[in-house]
Amino acid sequence: MCGIVGYIGAEEAAPILLDGLARLEYRGYDSAGLAVFSPAQGLQVVKAKGRLSVLSGIVDGGSALHGTVGVGHTRWATHGEPSDVNSHPQVSASGRIAVVHNGIIENYVQIKEFLASKGVHFVSQTDTEVVAHLLEYYYEGDILEAVSKVLHRIEGAYALGIICADCPDRLIAARKDSPLILGYGEGFNFLASDVTAVIKYTRDVCYLEDGEIAVLTKDAIQVYSHPYLQPVEKERHHVDWEISAAEKGGYEHFMAKEIMEQPKAFHDTISPRIQDGRVVLEGLDLDGDYLRRMDKIYIIACGSSYHVGMVAKYILEKALRKPVEVALASEFRYCDPLVTRDTLCIVISQSGETIDTMAALREAKRRGATILSIVNVVGSSIARESDYVLYTWAGPEIAVATTKAYSTQLALIYLITLRFAELLGTMAEEERRAVIDELRTIPGKMQKILDDRESIQYYASIYFNHESIFFIGRNIDYAIGLEGSLKLKEISYIHSEAYAAGELKHGTISLIEEGTLVIALASCAPLFDKLVSNIVEVKSRGADVLGLTVESKGEDLKKVVDNAILVPDTHPMLLPSLDVIPMQLFAYYVALMRGCDIDKPRNLAKSVTVE
Ligand code: M6R
Repeated sequence: MCGIVGYIGAEEAAPILLDGLARLEYRGYDSAGLAVFSPAQGLQVVKAKGRLSVLSGIVDGGSALHGTVGVGHTRWATHGEPSDVNSHPQVSASGRIAVVHNGIIENYVQIKEFLASKGVHFVSQTDTEVVAHLLEYYYEGDILEAVSKVLHRIEGAYALGIICADCPDRLIAARKDSPLILGYGEGFNFLASDVTAVIKYTRDVCYLEDGEIAVLTKDAIQVYSHPYLQPVEKERHHVDWEISAAEKGGYEHFMAKEIMEQPKAFHDTISPRIQDGRVVLEGLDLDGDYLRRMDKIYIIACGSSYHVGMVAKYILEKALRKPVEVALASEFRYCDPLVTRDTLCIVISQSGETIDTMAALREAKRRGATILSIVNVVGSSIARESDYVLYTWAGPEIAVATTKAYSTQLALIYLITLRFAELLGTMAEEERRAVIDELRTIPGKMQKILDDRESIQYYASIYFNHESIFFIGRNIDYAIGLEGSLKLKEISYIHSEAYAAGELKHGTISLIEEGTLVIALASCAPLFDKLVSNIVEVKSRGADVLGLTVESKGEDLKKVVDNAILVPDTHPMLLPSLDVIPMQLFAYYVALMRGCDIDKPRNLAKSVTVE
C-alpha cells in the first residue's frame, strides 16, 4: 500500500526520487520521505507528514539534497499514525542504514522486544523500524550478509529498499509478497514498486520474485536467491506503453481521463481476441472435455473487481448452465471453500498485487483448482502465479477509483463466456455471432454516453447535496448498482447502499423518506416491469428517483421517475458496459461538486497489499 523507489547513478538522486514518488503517490499519500547519500554530508534523511508536495517543498524540489544514490517512500499508514517520525525511511540507531518498506512485518513485536533487550531505543510506532535496527545488529561490514540474516528473522510481507552509508556504491532490494521491480539504465539503475516510477528513465525492467535479493550499483544489477545467495539470471522485460498513459493529459483528474479512455481500452482488450468472427483467447487451452468435467466456476476478487464477478455470475450461469460462485477474496480463504480439482477459479485483479486476492489464489491452487486470472498489470504476482492469465489492455490506471480496468475486466468476461459457450455448445452459433458483432459496437456506444456527459453533470448538480443515496436493480442491474454505489461512496464520501430491488421491502424500505434519492437501474428488459413496481413503491414513500434504462424503454421509464438517464440498446449480456458509465460519471461529478480529492480519496490506496 506504500510506494518505494530507489536510484543509483550519476545524477542528483533527490529530484529523480521525488519524480518517481509523484508517480507512485496513488499507492499511499499520508506522508513521504527520502534518504540520500553524499560523501560530504553522509546519509541525509528528510521526512514529512502529508502529501508529497509537503516533502518536496521542504527539500526545494530535491535541490536541497545532494548525492547520487538514495531511496524514497510514500506511505499508507498501517502501524503508527501518519506523522513525521513514522514516515519512511526508517533509520538504524547509528544513522548509517536507512530502509523503505511496503508491506507488514508480522513478528515485529517479538523482534522489537529482542532488540530492546539489547539496548536498542525505538523512536517510531512502525513495524519497519525493526528492520533498520536488525540490519545494524547483524551488520559486520557486508550489507548483503546482513540483509540475508534479517530476512531469516522477519515474517510477513515486504518490498524493501536499503541504503547503507558504509557502502554508498550500492542499493539493496528484497521482496516477499509485495511488488518490486528493477529498472536497468545506462550508468544508473532503479528499484521501485511499479514501472510508472521509472518509465521516464528506462523501459527495461525485471520483476523481483519472492525470496530474491538484488544488489544495484550504478552499472549493474545482480539478483540472488535467499537464503543461500545463489546468483539468479533475470529475464528483462521491455515496457512499451507511452509515458503519457500515466499522465493526466489535460484532464483535471486521472479519474476523468480514465473514464474517457474506456472506449479505447475496451476496444484494445477485445479486438485482438476476435478473429474471423470467433473468440480466440491466447494461451488458454482449456478444452470442451475440461469444461464438461468442470464442477463449477469460482470467481475470486475484491472491491470493484468483485463487482465484475457479480456481473459475471449472471452472464456465465445463463450462457454455460454451470454453477458460478463469487467470493470476496478476504472471505474465501477462511471459509473452507468447496473447491475441487475440477473447479475453475477466475481471479480478477487490476493491480495483480492485492494481497487478499493473492492469498485466496494460493488457497484455491493448494486445493487443486485451475486458476485463470484477469489482470491489468503485466508481470504482477497474481499473473505470474496463475495457470492462465488474460490481460486487460487498459493501460496504467492511476486514479484510486477504478473505471477503465472495471470495463476491460467485463470485456474479458464476455469473451470467456463466448469461448466457453462455443466449447460447451450451450449458445447457438447464430446468437454467439450476433453477440460478437454487437461486442464490436460497444466502444462506439460508450462514446455516445461519454459525449452526453453534461446531462449526468446536470443530475449531479441536482443531487450532490444528498447525504444518503440508494441504488436498486435486479439481476445485472443490481450488480451495476453495487459498483455505482461503491464509486459514489469511495470518492464523494456520501453514504450509499445498493440493494436488489425486490429485497428492499424486507427491511431497508423503512429508510426511504421524503426526498431520499434512489437511483433505479432498469435496463434488464425482462425485469423492467418488476423494477417499475419497485420504483413506484419508493416513490409512494417520498423518494426522488433517478432512473436508468435503455433508449427503447425511455418513454416508459420517464412516466415513473423524476429524472431519467438513457443508454443505447444492446444485447442484454453487454448492457453492464454501458450502464456503468453514467454511474462513474455521476460519482465523479458529485465528488467534484463536493470539493473532494477525487484521485486520492481519504484513507484509501490504489494497491491494497496488506490483509
Ligand atoms: O487491484 P484489484 O483489482 O485487486 O483491487 C481490488 C479493489 O481494491 C479495487 O477494485 C477497489 O475496490 C477500487 N478502488 C474501487 O474503485
